[in-house]
Amino acid sequence: MAINSIRRRCAQPPETHERPSLDDSRASTIRLESERLYLRPLQLTDANERYLCWMRDPDVTRYLECRFAPCTPGDLGQYVAGVSADPNAVFFAIVLKEMERHVGNIKLASINRTHGTAEVGLMIGEKDCWNKGYAMEAIRLVTAYAFDVLGLHKLTAGCYDVNPASARAFLKAGWVREGLRSEQFECEGRRVGQILLGAAREPLLSAFEE
Ligand SMILES: CC(C)(COP(=O)(O)OP(=O)(O)OC[C@H]1O[C@@H](n2cnc3c(N)ncnc32)[C@H](O)[C@@H]1OP(=O)(O)O)[C@@H](O)C(=O)NCCC(=O)NCCS
Repeated sequence: MAINSIRRRCAQPPETHERPSLDDSRASTIRLESERLYLRPLQLTDANERYLCWMRDPDVTRYLECRFAPCTPGDLGQYVAGVSADPNAVFFAIVLKEMERHVGNIKLASINRTHGTAEVGLMIGEKDCWNKGYAMEAIRLVTAYAFDVLGLHKLTAGCYDVNPASARAFLKAGWVREGLRSEQFECEGRRVGQILLGAAREPLLSAFEE
């Protein structure tokens, strides 16, 4: 599923009452696929040694809030179980088709059915996989899923302004920069801003039709 699929299916957006429930659309068989990777629901068995290494790697967590909290195997398992059970979140593993390699995670969180909104957060934990376009590919898939399957209208994300790779990945996926919340975070001894990113269904579809 990709942006073309959003355009095709959203020609007739589903009525609110026809939208699938999160439980329906979070069936364990779900698989969102692009050229090089696919997304599948994150499972408790994914809270393994590799994932723990990502959470303990200061390069990976440098601009993430999780850097402030200790992460034991138990903490990680509880976190995965908690997000997976959250009725207002969908948590995906990002898996490279080649070697079936689990390289990171992406989630839709704070899903608000009334307003049709959700927040996107992601992490590519395997550093040798950075700057290869995988985040952009995963963001596109999750955006298509949110609009196309969940029937949402607006997605948001935020990143530290000192993390240009993150903003760039969202922009490449068709998102727009909506603003800057200055001096928002403490990071490595200084104040840094938060770049606000967003994707609204109709403008995104129009942009891809041009
Ligand atoms: C940020 C992150 C998601 C990016 O993932 P990724 O798979 O490397 O992203 P992509 O390859 O799709 O895009 C990254 C883009 O940023 C660019 N980039 C990388 N470092 C950059 C820098 N210092 N300045 C400007 N651009 C930079 C890359 O060149 C690439 O753009 P291009 O394709 O035009 O060349 C990944 O590094 C990560 O998970 N980091 C740790 C956790 C994190 O920061 N998550 C985001 C929280 S909001």
